[in-house]
Amino acid sequence: CGIIGFTGNEPAKDIIIGGLERLEYRGYDSAGLALLSNDQIQVRKRTGKVEELRKLCEAEKMPATCGIGHTRWATHGGVTDVNAHPHRVGKVVLIHNGIIENYRQIVTEYGLADQLVSETDSEVVAALLNKFYEGDPVKAIKKTVKVLSGAFALCIMFQDIPDTIYAIRNVSPMVATSCERGSVIASDLTALIEFSKEYFVVPEYHILTLKKDGIDIQDLKGNKVTPQMLTVNWDITSAQKGGYPFFMLKEIYEQPDAIRNTIAPRINQELPDFTEDGIDDAIFKDCKRISIVACGTAMHAGMVGKHLIEKKLRIPVHVDCASEFRYKDPIIDEETLTIVLSQSGETIDTLEALKLAKNRGSKVLSIVNVKGSTIARESDYVLYTHAGPEIAVASTKAYTVQVAAMYLIACRIGLVKGLITEHDAKRFMTKLTNASNIVEETLKCADDIKRVADHIKFATDTFYIGRGLDYTMSLEAALKLKEISYVHAEAYAAGELKHGTIALISENVPVIALATQEDVYAKVISNIREVKARGAYVVLVSMDEEVNDPSICDQHIRLPKMDSEFTSFATAVVLQLVAYYTSEAKGLDVDKPRNLAKSVTVE
Ligand code: G6P
Repeated sequence: CGIIGFTGNEPAKDIIIGGLERLEYRGYDSAGLALLSNDQIQVRKRTGKVEELRKLCEAEKMPATCGIGHTRWATHGGVTDVNAHPHRVGKVVLIHNGIIENYRQIVTEYGLADQLVSETDSEVVAALLNKFYEGDPVKAIKKTVKVLSGAFALCIMFQDIPDTIYAIRNVSPMVATSCERGSVIASDLTALIEFSKEYFVVPEYHILTLKKDGIDIQDLKGNKVTPQMLTVNWDITSAQKGGYPFFMLKEIYEQPDAIRNTIAPRINQELPDFTEDGIDDAIFKDCKRISIVACGTAMHAGMVGKHLIEKKLRIPVHVDCASEFRYKDPIIDEETLTIVLSQSGETIDTLEALKLAKNRGSKVLSIVNVKGSTIARESDYVLYTHAGPEIAVASTKAYTVQVAAMYLIACRIGLVKGLITEHDAKRFMTKLTNASNIVEETLKCADDIKRVADHIKFATDTFYIGRGLDYTMSLEAALKLKEISYVHAEAYAAGELKHGTIALISENVPVIALATQEDVYAKVISNIREVKARGAYVVLVSMDEEVNDPSICDQHIRLPKMDSEFTSFATAVVLQLVAYYTSEAKGLDVDKPRNLAKSVTVE
């Protein structure tokens, strides 16, 4: 969920709605705002995208200069107007990001049931605050947070305290700043940056009092705290679709540049070099094993890295999704290098996994796209990807640059540890530099890929199969298709299909077979024949010049010729376009698929 609060010298309504539009990547189930003026609180909230909230408030004159706003990704309670934030109980109105784990006990223990109208955990906090409120907001907040367990970022207004926003957090991040326009608080920098380049990270369990002329911070004992100011070194790029029907398609076509921009600054005398990034080679030299942690598409980029590092360098690599990593007592220590991948740098599961890895003595290197994001700030070292802003919820260019970053890191580790020669590293880097050209070439297959989409848009189930690197790519392919086209897709190791899942193959079931790996090519072709013999509609993705054998495939996507180690860049384009065109052919909102958020900021 996204949070913004503003108190200052100008009307808050437009500032808040504008901020929510920037924060929409954190969820777009519903949006709402609360404005405070003349001892009155006005709340407006509505399901749907921020645009709906804008329409709702458009005609209303709302002169208040103090307000809070929220864009929601539902956790507790369905997507309804009532469950949308802000939540108001008595004199208290608040917005909340996170999950209050003991909210049911609180309701019973404090007898709050009668005051609740929504199904959310957040409204319970408002009711509790209201119960404790006797004219002293700080006192009420202190009492309330002692009761809460779970993660929270709260922005609160009290009806009888004019022009003031209170805030407190645990785990869920918030940043704040004040400038001549007023004081602002938000869940992340994207909504703050138009106000000031100077900001601070709200410390956990500190109470913030935001007034138009400044922000007061105190710990729970009442001691005043001076925040550590940080500076943002990037500008808001107001991303435009630039003639493309959807951001996703534009971002797919931006990949050659994104890859170039990510790789080029890290090449010095034809070798990978992270001096400018301030990454100490000791983390590579000293590591005995690698642990990769991420979520969703970022985790799939990590899997490509695992494949490469294990195959090339023979260093053991373990990949975990962050939500599992956190609770499985992971085997990591000082000799483990943890690599964290995140486009947004705000995914809470990944952030918490990172903290756990650090606590266990592991050095953390993160691969992050958004500068100054929480994950970037918390890591020991950061290798920024330079994909530029990614707007579509389904990640495309951020994924390929994460993959490129993994290739860079693999090569650097090999060099530092003496596992590859300089000569081999230079050859590897030449091929990596060519990845952007591979992507450009593959984009030329768009029309063929569109035909694949025309076929699978009617399917209920589809399969991606492959071996080795292609199996890894299949996982991302299936995820992408599910995310934006709502067609069920499953990724299977081509050789494993016959051990059970082949039972699902029948007449016309689409199977997209990735066969780009030279060493297992013949094996994959045999696996393809197995599904073809059972009636599957097979799309073969390979570097073959021409495949006219109907016992192998119904459609062929021909990739440009390249080394097996680098086919991930070409396959990525194919799988992205298959998903894109399928979603478009079904008439869906490609950029904002149902139920998803670009960045999930709850556990
Ligand atoms: C969400 C998005 C996914 C994304 C994942 C990780 O679930 O819907 O598309 O891959 O978060 O996001 P991150 O910003 O950490 O890469």
